[in-house]
Amino acid sequence: MTTYELQQEIIRLKKEKNICILVHAYQSHDIWEVADYIGDSFGLTQQAAKSDADTVIMCGVRFMAETVKMLSPRKKVILSNADAGCPMAEQMDPEMLAQMRESMPDYKVVAYVNTTAALKTLCDVCVTSSSAVKIIQALPDKKILFIPDCNLGDWVQKQVPEKEIKLVNGGCPTHARMTVEDVKAAKAAHPEALLLVHPECRPAVTALADYAGSTTGIMAYAEKSDAKEFIIGTENSIVQHLQYSCPDKRFYPLSKDCVCHNMKLTTLGDIYQCVQGTGGEEILMDDQLIADARKCIDEMLRYGG
Ligand code: 13P
Ligand code: SF4
Repeated sequence: MTTYELQQEIIRLKKEKNICILVHAYQSHDIWEVADYIGDSFGLTQQAAKSDADTVIMCGVRFMAETVKMLSPRKKVILSNADAGCPMAEQMDPEMLAQMRESMPDYKVVAYVNTTAALKTLCDVCVTSSSAVKIIQALPDKKILFIPDCNLGDWVQKQVPEKEIKLVNGGCPTHARMTVEDVKAAKAAHPEALLLVHPECRPAVTALADYAGSTTGIMAYAEKSDAKEFIIGTENSIVQHLQYSCPDKRFYPLSKDCVCHNMKLTTLGDIYQCVQGTGGEEILMDDQLIADARKCIDEMLRYGG
C-alpha cells in the first residue's frame, strides 16, 4: 500500500466505526492528514470533552490518552502506541507529592497536565502550556506549588509576579536539550529570523526568544507574522508542519536534537491497526481513579475554558 492508500483506508474505517482520531501537533504530517482534530495539549483536552465518537484514538503520549479517558469514561480510548510515554509525567511519584503537600498545607498544588493520573489525584488544578498563565492568574490563592516542569513554572512566575510559585526539579528532557549556544549559532546562521520557543525550554533560552508559547501558539504566531524567517525552539515536527502551512516563509530548527522519541513512536501503520481493532493499547482506569484524577482537569476547564 502507498501512504495515500493507507490513509484512505484509515479514513474509511474510522467513519464506518464512528472513531475519532485525536492527534498531538508533534506527530508527523502523514498522521496529521488522517486526524479529526490536531492541537496542543489544551485543545486536545477540550476536544476530548466534546467528542461524540464511540472510540477515540489518541495519537500522542500516555498522559494524553489518560486525560481523554477521564473526560469520556464510557468511551473506548486507545493510545496509538503502547510504548509512547512522557518521561516528564513519570518524574514525581505520588508519595513524594503527598509528603510535599503535608509540609506545605497553605499551597495550592498546580500540575502541568503532563503528569500521571495517579499524581493528578493529589493536585488541585491542572494547566497546560497555553492555559497556565491565565489559570494561575485566575486562582484566588497566592501560594502555588507548581509541578513538575520548573522551566514552564519559571516562565509563568515571570508573567504573574504577584504569585509566590514554588518549583520542583523536573521538566521535559526533549526541550532541555536546547541551549544558549544553540541560540547563538542559529541566530548567527539566520540573523533575520525570529526565535519562537516553547516555555518547556530552559529559562536562559526562553529569555532570548521573540515569542514563547504552546505548540499551537508558536504555529499561530508564525502564520500571522509578517516576518519571513523563524527559528523554531520546540519539537522539530513543528518546523515541518509550518513549512507546509507557510510555503513562502522559511523555518529552521533551533537544534537538530529536539526530537521527542516518544511522540515519534506512532506510525501510520499503528493507526491502521488501531482502526482495525488490533493495535494500540486500550486505556483502562477504575472509576475511583477517574473520579479522583479528573477533578483537577475539570478545574482547568472551568478556569481556562
Ligand atoms: P503543548 O501541547 O501544551 O504545547 O505541550 C507540548 C508538549 O510537550 C506536550 O507533551
Ligand atoms: Fe513529554 Fe517533552 Fe515529549 Fe512532550 S516533548 S511528550 S513533555 S518528553
